[in-house]
Amino acid sequence: MSLIDIEKDTFYHDYPVLQRKVQDKKLIYLDNAATTQKPYSVINKIAQFYQMQNSNIHRSAHSLSAECTLEYDNARSKVAEFLGGTLFNEIIFTKGCTEAINLVSFCMEKKIQKDDEIWISPIEHHANILPWQRLCKNTGAKLKIIPMNDQLELEISTFEHLITERAKLVAVTHISNALGVVNPVESISRICKKVGALLFIDGAQAVSHTKVNVKEINADFYALSGHKMFGPTGIGVLYAKEHLLNEFEPYQLGGGMIEQVTFHESTFAPIPYKFEAGTPPIAGALGLAQAIDYISETRYDVILQKERLLYDAFMEMCSRIKEIKIYGHKNPHHHIPVFSFNINRIHPHDISTIFDSYGIAIRSGHHCCQPLMQILGVPATARISFAYYNSISDIHIIEEAIKKSMEIFIK
Ligand code: ALA
Repeated sequence: MSLIDIEKDTFYHDYPVLQRKVQDKKLIYLDNAATTQKPYSVINKIAQFYQMQNSNIHRSAHSLSAECTLEYDNARSKVAEFLGGTLFNEIIFTKGCTEAINLVSFCMEKKIQKDDEIWISPIEHHANILPWQRLCKNTGAKLKIIPMNDQLELEISTFEHLITERAKLVAVTHISNALGVVNPVESISRICKKVGALLFIDGAQAVSHTKVNVKEINADFYALSGHKMFGPTGIGVLYAKEHLLNEFEPYQLGGGMIEQVTFHESTFAPIPYKFEAGTPPIAGALGLAQAIDYISETRYDVILQKERLLYDAFMEMCSRIKEIKIYGHKNPHHHIPVFSFNINRIHPHDISTIFDSYGIAIRSGHHCCQPLMQILGVPATARISFAYYNSISDIHIIEEAIKKSMEIFIK
């Protein structure tokens, strides 16, 4: 696809909800870090599953069940390939990224001892803080924080100096949901390997923006959510190295994950099924596989080019408004177009309400990153998070909404 095609902004035609109006205005959806919209192909796949195939998997010999079982397994193979040619056995379906993090923190408990260290970064989502906090409380391990510089980027060389062999696990986000900063996960991985720490990466915000290869990164764990990559809610993925999954005890117990059960003793199914108790999110897995097909057809190089255009146009517009403060983003090449900002002392919820009157959907609040807000010295920010289907022309409307907010609230 050429740059001219990319500038034509036609991608939004794939998304039915983007054709609707809000407040009698064209919907301008800029809350993609919260959840992305779904293309027709994903919606149709889920509808087709319930209309024509619906049955449970791995339980019956009937044709519908066999068909669904095959498609569910194919979805897992597709995810394994998508993440860089990992093994079928290394992909666990969860209900989202949060459940994947909870699964790993639960299973890690047996490997952690008093005075071991778990490292996280200061820009983590609560979902990648709380499970590690509990793990530390339960084991007597220490939660350590990777240092960050004034530009709100991780200080990797200082981190390398501080970390020791007491570190058992480093858990970082690939891309920040609040700041849009891309963490140098390859360097973090190299540092982890040097001290023998496992690396967990929260990839919730990454997979809709950039190609991820967990093998090249050499991550021990990588988690993602379907709904943040144009797929359905209620489905997520945990990638984990095979030997770790084999070592871990099951996270939940129930049907579908057993080999033999008596009243007093049970044995478990091999991985990945050992970690999927109960009826799994079948429609979600099929929808996620369809989203992967959709991304592959669209192509990451196209997504990247379009997002770079949006990034530059947004920053150029903001450079003309001295009242707007964008957090971070000193180095555009380390960022995707996700911007947390404040406008003088206007409350972010007021900004969000004015934006809504223009048909623009943004998030305001702490973005599930209260420790980061404490560092920024603000209770909340407004956040614009672009996806590649947003339009350059949307940025003119954003500018109007910013000016209207200033007109109303800055006397
Ligand atoms: N993690 C999502 C967000 O950043 C909900 O909005």
